[in-house]
Amino acid sequence: MLGLSPRAPFSVGRRAPTASLEARVLLLLAALLPACAGPGDDTADPLAGLVLVQEDPSDAPFRDLSAEWMERFDLGDVAFEAPFRSSQGLGPAYIRSSCASCHADDARGPGMVTKMVVLDDPEAESELLPWGNTERPYVAGGATTPLVRPDDPRVEISTRAPPAVFGRGYLEAIDEAEVRALASSQAEAGRVSGRVNEVVCNFEANDESLFPTCSTGATVMGRFGLKARVPTLDGFAADAYQGDMSITSPMRPDELANPDGLLDDDRAGVDIDLETVNVTGDYMRLLDIPPREPLEEEGAALFADLGCADCHTPSLRTRADWPVPQLAGIDAPIYSDLLLHDMGEGFSDGLSDGGALPSEWRTSPLIGLRHLRYYLHDGRADSVDAAIVAHGGAGSEALFSADLYAHASPADRETLLRYVESL
Ligand code: HEC
Ligand code: HEC
Repeated sequence: MLGLSPRAPFSVGRRAPTASLEARVLLLLAALLPACAGPGDDTADPLAGLVLVQEDPSDAPFRDLSAEWMERFDLGDVAFEAPFRSSQGLGPAYIRSSCASCHADDARGPGMVTKMVVLDDPEAESELLPWGNTERPYVAGGATTPLVRPDDPRVEISTRAPPAVFGRGYLEAIDEAEVRALASSQAEAGRVSGRVNEVVCNFEANDESLFPTCSTGATVMGRFGLKARVPTLDGFAADAYQGDMSITSPMRPDELANPDGLLDDDRAGVDIDLETVNVTGDYMRLLDIPPREPLEEEGAALFADLGCADCHTPSLRTRADWPVPQLAGIDAPIYSDLLLHDMGEGFSDGLSDGGALPSEWRTSPLIGLRHLRYYLHDGRADSVDAAIVAHGGAGSEALFSADLYAHASPADRETLLRYVESL
């Protein structure tokens, strides 16, 4: 009924129109929970099954959602929490077995992704890293060789910390014309110079989505990921299922190249169906920004005066025709311009992504920072203050702003920090 037979793709979709949602969620959980101890699952997930019953302000949907949207949110919640196992398509090499094991409570961590790069001898990269730049330390589905850093001093490591996924529906709903206009006005004003990451849509078609999707091969505006390399949330879901969990889907049907040379795993063909990708995307689309206390005006003024608002644009307009009414035609308070900025040499890890250069990063949306424990793309800062100070490295577009912050009075710095931490 849930599509869990060996050949049909795993599904959380609408396979059982007569069963209540609750019954379906329970069935699905019953099918998924043994996965914690399943073969090939080396990352026993202590969160499995807990999150459905817990009420945490960082993982709440929009209030007053219609029953239809709420149903999709709940289905997506299950998919996001579910640890996958070999029989469901986990493997060959993978990083973790569930979305939530890296985005616990829809925030940042505890899971990280490790990238490998050959800085001193770029010519040798294809020979040293024949399966790409990402470490995948666990194996399942018949694989025996994890994909880890080769024992060669030329290969260096760079860590990527997951951004939160809450509030990401706002980012997706923003009118592309707004972002492009902002890039032009930044270029005119000349203080910062953000640019759109123009990326190629590298997904197979998603013709079941309720949201605008990209056409395979088209050049489109990137929004998601630390370097804004993915245009949509269904796309990010398919990318993460494949790249982090080695779970293939119709949007990403191929197993990734792996040291064992396996072309498939314990579940023949694609591992999940399009509906599972879409409810996972819809779950993230319907997660609200964690509730904010009324913001202090003095803090907002400092945020602008110190140059933060140049890049962390307090709000951008969403499309009036957006399918979720709570997100349509509003000023979305995301505190990002969705643009790439050059943050200087100290932020370069030698890796490009789409059109983004090694030192270019998307302005982090300042959303729910009080739910995060560490900051910046590699988690190098353990406080908001340290994150701001790090903006001031040589060659950084944000150097002027970090300088203004450094020269502000201690009282003003405190007011600014209180403001940023309350976003
Ligand atoms: C191994 C840890 C890990 C797993 C598992 C994982 N993620 Fe992530 N996620 C990350 C990291 C790291 C990034 C940043 C990647 C980048 O941009 O290079 C990220 C980024 C994201 C983003 C972009 C957010 C933004 O601000 O643009 C979304 C959306 C997302 N993940 C969703 C998912 C979903 C859905 C799943 C499950 C299908 C998942 N992730 C599984 C680590 C993980
Ligand atoms: C030139 C554009 C620019 C300016 C100006 C700027 N930032 Fe940023 N900010 C960024 C970028 C890009 C990142 C992401 C860097 C990374 O992930 O390594 C970022 C990241 C951050 C983070 C970390 C968020 C997280 O999720 O880890 C904080 C906090 C932050 N900025 C606050 C500020 C404050 C406060 C100011 C003003 C004093 C400011 N920024 C000025 C571009 C800017």
